[in-house]
Amino acid sequence: MIRRAMPDDVPEIRLLMESVPGFWQSHWSNSTVGLAIAGGLAFVFEEDSRILGFVCAHDLGFRAYLSELVVAPKTRNQGIGRALVQRVEQELSVRGQAVLIADVWRDAIPFYAALGWEAPEAVLLRKRLKSRNSGRAE
Ligand SMILES: CC(C)(COP(=O)(O)OP(=O)(O)OC[C@H]1O[C@@H](n2cnc3c(N)ncnc32)[C@H](O)[C@@H]1OP(=O)(O)O)[C@@H](O)C(=O)NCCC(=O)NCCS
Repeated sequence: MIRRAMPDDVPEIRLLMESVPGFWQSHWSNSTVGLAIAGGLAFVFEEDSRILGFVCAHDLGFRAYLSELVVAPKTRNQGIGRALVQRVEQELSVRGQAVLIADVWRDAIPFYAALGWEAPEAVLLRKRLKSRNSGRAE
């Protein structure tokens, strides 16, 4: 079952993200997850009261951004990832949003391609910021 992510889900979402090697970043915290789900475009796939998948996106006005997607390693290839991404796509379509972007792991490119995603002409750039605030630690 897919449902909207709630603040009480934060610890379990974090555990799910930490269960995938290389996924969880050392500068993230429970607050990071809480901030990410606050916009109302975050969903979990739940079965028998266990969270097996998580997706979150953000409507930025001009376009939307899918920031995280993860499915528990033991439950992959069962359609959970597809269902989560399609739920986000539907929500944004209803809002009238026309473009959804994501920076994705190379291994996941075939997954997104199967869902109709394509490489845009624009190039993604990144700037690593020096954190001057310890307020996110938790
Ligand atoms: C990418 C990920 C979310 C896919 O979740 P999933 O639940 O296993 O995917 P689904 O079962 O919904 O697969 C949907 C389609 O993508 C295909 N697919 C999934 N992973 C694939 C892969 N690595 N290579 C090729 N195709 C893939 C499936 O075969 C399926 O196609 P089909 O419907 O034509 O059979 C999951 O593998 C994952 O959490 N990976 C680690 C984190 C990650 O890469 N996140 C995304 C980018 S940051």
